[in-house]
Amino acid sequence: MKRQLWGLVGAAAAVLAVDGAHAAGGDAKAGEKVFVQCKVCHKIDASGSSGVGPNLNKVAGRKSGTLPGFKYSPAMVAAKRVWTDAALDAYLAAPAKAMPGNRMPYAGLSNPADRRNVIAYIKSMAR
Ligand code: HEC
Repeated sequence: MKRQLWGLVGAAAAVLAVDGAHAAGGDAKAGEKVFVQCKVCHKIDASGSSGVGPNLNKVAGRKSGTLPGFKYSPAMVAAKRVWTDAALDAYLAAPAKAMPGNRMPYAGLSNPADRRNVIAYIKSMAR
């Protein structure tokens, strides 16, 4: 019985390890479909031009509110948040909560897989 139990613990650990690797990766192809919602406001290309929201080209690793020529909210500029995976994940889950006072008119992505995938897509599009 004891040995069986350890077998189960081992199997669970293996499953967690695989899931962890996936979490870090994200699926850019699946993320492209999620990005359809963002496209209404965000371009993601090397043009430097923006729509309702700032161009998201190379946003990963950038400091919040720093794309030249875009008129950000004071909150987005003052936050000086570096857009790491974790920062993007928290912001996209609940924009208003993660950065009070910011003006992105978007409720958020509640599904963690959607967030992971859209972040992978954004990074894959950096030009
Ligand atoms: C209805 C329009 C709209 C939608 C939809 C939208 N955004 Fe935004 N987004 C904005 C605006 C406007 C800002 C700037 C907010 C501010 O200055 O406070 C912004 C800011 C951002 C920023 C910070 C950029 C920077 O340069 O610091 C990121 C990242 C972002 N959005 C990602 C997304 C993603 C990913 C989606 C889709 C899941 C999305 N947004 C959907 C309008 C939108």
